Amino acid sequence: NNMFAAQVGEEHGLTKERIEQLSDQLKAAHEALVKARETSKLGFMELPYNQKEVVEEILAYVEENKGKFENIVVLGIGGSALGMIALQRALNPFYYNESAELRQGRPRLYVLDNVDPEWFGEFLEQVDVKKTLFNVISKSGGTAETMTQYMIIRKHLEDELGEKATDHLVFTTSKDRGNLIKIAKAEGIKTFFIPENVGGRFSVLSPVGLLPAAFVGIDICELLAGAKYMDQICQNEDIWQNPAYLNATLQYLAYQDGKTISVMLPYSSALKDFADWYAQLWAESLGKKLNREGVVVNVGPTPVKALGATDQHSQVQLYMEGPFDKVITFLEVKRFRKEVTIPEGYKEIDGLSYLGGHTMNELITVEKQATEMALTKNNRLNCTIIIPEINAFTVGQLIQLLEVQTAFAGELFNINAFDQPGVELGKNYTYGILGRKGYEQMKEEFESRSEK
Ligand code: PA5
Repeated sequence: NNMFAAQVGEEHGLTKERIEQLSDQLKAAHEALVKARETSKLGFMELPYNQKEVVEEILAYVEENKGKFENIVVLGIGGSALGMIALQRALNPFYYNESAELRQGRPRLYVLDNVDPEWFGEFLEQVDVKKTLFNVISKSGGTAETMTQYMIIRKHLEDELGEKATDHLVFTTSKDRGNLIKIAKAEGIKTFFIPENVGGRFSVLSPVGLLPAAFVGIDICELLAGAKYMDQICQNEDIWQNPAYLNATLQYLAYQDGKTISVMLPYSSALKDFADWYAQLWAESLGKKLNREGVVVNVGPTPVKALGATDQHSQVQLYMEGPFDKVITFLEVKRFRKEVTIPEGYKEIDGLSYLGGHTMNELITVEKQATEMALTKNNRLNCTIIIPEINAFTVGQLIQLLEVQTAFAGELFNINAFDQPGVELGKNYTYGILGRKGYEQMKEEFESRSEK
């Protein structure tokens, strides 16, 4: 871990004493999480334990629909989309959607997490809704983007299939609130539930991610088993034994020292979208105006997603020599699922011949090590999370690790990591501007805004 002064120098590094000085705060943060867990406030922590029946229902539903659909399309946004995008890229072959051989009879997966008319419009032209199952995911059942997508798709389904439209819909939403559940009840649409105490960005291991994942052949039991394994490690009060607590503490201290930008840099294309998922988790959970006592603090690290080795030729120059305002988290994969050998050749050209006989696996690993070394030499804080191999078990571990880390960091920053008032405000203006009943004041405020 190259966050310590011994590695990056006194001026920018952290010392063990700094961590020890935090011991009261760390103890309090641990106790707060234990208490919140005991009082059922941290639903995401229970997902690896309390979903036996949910998993059975999901697997039965997938089995029941086997061979019926060529595509499964997720309609959702934010926490209702990013997790599944990350799972698909990490755990299924890159060309899964393009190759019937790779899909082995399973449906293609598309996650439409935007309301860009060009993207959505083109998708509508391409997709055959008669061969498609639409999984509408919205915990609130009211998010304008997702509901818009749903209304458009619903019309298309009705035009094509009449009364059978509802056979092509499955909802994932809150059990007791929002419009989706009302529609589902009225029309008998199959529904899976997001527990009330599981926040959107912490919900990938609920049916939000598990249902589409199961459809595309991801082993959801292994995902949960990995999360459970990690959760047990992450219950340890001793931060030197608890990677989630240690990471959160290092990130917190780095932030206090002005390293307010937190970069996630996986050296693995399969984990690229994981960095995207994590960016939401970290940003929406920790970026807050008010602390727990209601005092304005405007706090929160800025997450940046990057990709190795690609971004060595893009962002890394800035990380090496720019302002001392960043902390880098590498994700390093020990064993890749494929090996690609670089052929011998061009013996007479020194600048090429050294590559021959090595593997691409060695190259990407060396590139990571070299970047780590250079960052450290430039006194740049960095740490590495090592993933032995990408599979459902290790991805489950990684998800749980980062979620617990976020919850613990929330305690250290003394903010509520589980709300998102900033996001809600934007949503409310959208409702007002588009004329939703009950949001007239937002519309008025918008219309009376000062002209630029
Ligand atoms: O983490 C969150 O709570 C948000 O990012 C939500 O997931 C996002 O706003 C979508 O909300 P919903 O699932 O209610 O449509």
